[in-house]
Amino acid sequence: MKRIGMLTSGGDCQALNATMRGVAKGLYNYYHDEVEIIGFEDGYKGLIYADYRLMKPGDFSGILTRGGTILGTSRQPFKLMRQPDENGLDKVEAMKQTYRKLKLDCLVVLGGNGSQKTANLLREEGLNIVSLPKTIDNDLWGTDMTFGFQSAVNIATNAIDCIHTTAASHGRVFIVEIMGHKVGWLTLYAGIAGGADIILLPEIPYDIDKVVGALKARQKEGKRFSIIAVAEGAISKENAKLSKKELKEKKKTGLVYPSVAYEIGAQITERTGQEVRVTVPGHMQRGGEPCPYDRTLASRLGAYAAGMIERGEYGFMVAVKNNDLTKVPLEEVAGRLKTVDPQCSMIAEAKTMGICFGDE
Ligand code: F6P
Repeated sequence: MKRIGMLTSGGDCQALNATMRGVAKGLYNYYHDEVEIIGFEDGYKGLIYADYRLMKPGDFSGILTRGGTILGTSRQPFKLMRQPDENGLDKVEAMKQTYRKLKLDCLVVLGGNGSQKTANLLREEGLNIVSLPKTIDNDLWGTDMTFGFQSAVNIATNAIDCIHTTAASHGRVFIVEIMGHKVGWLTLYAGIAGGADIILLPEIPYDIDKVVGALKARQKEGKRFSIIAVAEGAISKENAKLSKKELKEKKKTGLVYPSVAYEIGAQITERTGQEVRVTVPGHMQRGGEPCPYDRTLASRLGAYAAGMIERGEYGFMVAVKNNDLTKVPLEEVAGRLKTVDPQCSMIAEAKTMGICFGDE
């Protein structure tokens, strides 16, 4: 009898269920009734505190299109993993104990950056791990694509589309703030797909004068409105020069805005007198059903993971490379971010179309 543990960790996203379904279908196909899947509740928390349930094949039926995660999820910061909990429990030892007590052959982890680091830690501790690349941010090193990303691009694009019509009616400047944590993938894709005039990414620190210059140039051309897609992690040229500590200090003394989009909005109004509205779609971007692309990707990734388990290939994350699936060692993935290269052709093409990135 094969015994496989499974958990979903960190912020949720679309296609978590579709991915688990892919893994389960693959495993049941390989092992029939000679496999048991144990689902841990709320991510690593379930593994630490032995909160789990034996999954039935029926649990994986009808979930291809369902958003969220049937197992629940939680954020268990990697940096706290080696620290005992409030009752003095050694979390790493507890996770190992649960794994051993349940006589697991492998643990399948669906997670983003922090979760991959913990997956690697468990691998170092001797557990058999297969992980899957989850996040709307698409910032996992080693894979061209993560599941959840394309669904989030659809939602963020739809938000920009909706803003377009109202911005055009009123002749306003609109800022749409898009998720993505420290990277700009989601903003870049949704910004281009939504026809944003200005796109501001964390990887290209912006100069507010350039942003204002681009807005004025549009006005001069007779354009009544402008749309700015701002990544939640966007940063000004001045702030990018500061250390983390200096930035923290600066934020304490200056005016405090709810987020970077509001700060940029205020600066534009101050410099141009133009009305600016800010829209933050926020967690909507992680919600709802996965788009067809993600359903397909998730199913493929899940089935590939089942194949790895069958072949005994442990210690890897399933990844997309040149439209094909492959596996990357967890120690290579852990702790590395995949950021947008400011010199990449996608940025060059966007600039060719006249999109301003706040740098020139
Ligand atoms: O990593 C996914 C993500 O949605 C990021 O884009 C965002 O910065 C973060 O999670 C929000 O986290 P939380 O759900 O904890 O507010």
